[in-house]
This record gives sequence, structure tokens and C-alpha cells, in this order.
Amino acid sequence: MDYVQHRVVQEAAKEASSISTPFTPLNIILLSVVFYTAYSTFSRSNTAPPIARGPPPKVFRTYTPRTLLPFNGENGQPIFFAVRGRVFDVSNGRNFYGPGGPYSNFAGRDASRGLACHSFDTDMLTEDLDGPLDTLEGLGPNEMEALQGWEETFTGKYDIVGKLVSVADYNTTKAAEAAQ
Ligand code: HEM
Repeated sequence: MDYVQHRVVQEAAKEASSISTPFTPLNIILLSVVFYTAYSTFSRSNTAPPIARGPPPKVFRTYTPRTLLPFNGENGQPIFFAVRGRVFDVSNGRNFYGPGGPYSNFAGRDASRGLACHSFDTDMLTEDLDGPLDTLEGLGPNEMEALQGWEETFTGKYDIVGKLVSVADYNTTKAAEAAQ
């Protein structure tokens, strides 16, 4: 009887110890899964790529021939030119219009007459930056058609970032705004 009692106590102790340990194979597997999930979640959030920033917003501005002039691609400036009063940002065409490019003569200028006449001559550009804009007087239908073709190309390819007005018109508008 003593023996039987002894065995019963022994078996009970064995059972109790096997139940109370947390390190069962199943628990180890479950813990591993939990740790792996937590690790991969946090390490992923730490290495997540930064949110890509878009290009800075483009502001539509009013330019005069003089204030347009610095936008010729030099000193890190963007490249703008005007065609019939619309200012295009042609910075993406830096190879054409940037410093040393074949059409750099148009950068920062009213390019209308030169484009219409397919000419790089300097007298195609408005000489007096503070005077009236080129009215394109004297151009024939072929030249006007060529110019329209260029405008269609540019509107499909570049952003319009402003309008070009003469200094006189600029001052008149500013005075009218101030009087309001
Ligand atoms: C020997 C004469 C010329 C040659 C061989 C020539 C060649 C070219 C070439 C290969 C292109 C690139 C076309 C493209 O890939 O989209 C181009 C574009 C252009 N050319 Fe000429 N060209 C000549 C004369 C002129 C002249 C005289 C003007 C104007 C005064 C002019 C104005 C332009 C303009 C505005 C562009 C468009 C650039 C852009 O997409 O922003 N080209 N030319």
C-alpha cells in the first residue's frame, strides 16, 4: 500500500510539473510567431520610404520683358520665354534653351517674332525692355501659322506660368489695384 501511495504521489508530481511549465513546444512556436510578426512590423515601419514630395507649386505671375529676363537658366534659374503674351516654363527643354543650347537666345525673352520667322537674329527680340510689346506687325499669314504651330507644341509640352505685359500695362494694372 505504501508503494502504491508512493507511486500515486510520484505520478501526480510529474503531471503537475509538466502542466505548469510554459515552455511547451506549442508555446515556443506561438511565441516565435508573435515575436517574428512584431519584429517584421516594426522594422518595416522604420525603413518605410519617405513620402515622395511633388514639385513645388507653380505660381502664375505677370511679367514684363525686364522681369522675365533673369529666367534664362543661368545661376540655377528656371527657363521661361513668352509667346504672344503667354509665359512658358521651358526648363525641361534645358538642352534647347539653356546656356549654350541652340535656342538659348529665346530664354528669358519674348520669342514670338523669332519663332514665327524661324530666325535667331537679335533684331527679332524686343530691344526696349521697358517699351511696348512686339505687336508682330508686318508678319504674314505663313509666319503667323508657323507661330501657331509652335504654340501648339509648347502648350502640349510645357506649363504656362504667367503672362507677359508691357511695363506701361503693368503699372496701369497695379495703380488700378491700389486704388480699389
Ligand atoms: C539647321 C537648322 C535647324 C535644325 C537642324 C534644327 C533641328 C531641331 C531638332 C532636331 C529639334 C528637336 C525636335 C524634337 O526632338 O522635338 C528642334 C527643335 C526645335 N527647333 Fe530647331 N532646328 C533648326 C533650326 C531652327 C530654327 C531656325 C528655329 C527657330 C528660330 C528652331 C527652333 C526650334 C524649336 C523652338 C524647337 C523645339 C524645342 C522644344 O521642343 O522645346 N530650330 N530643332
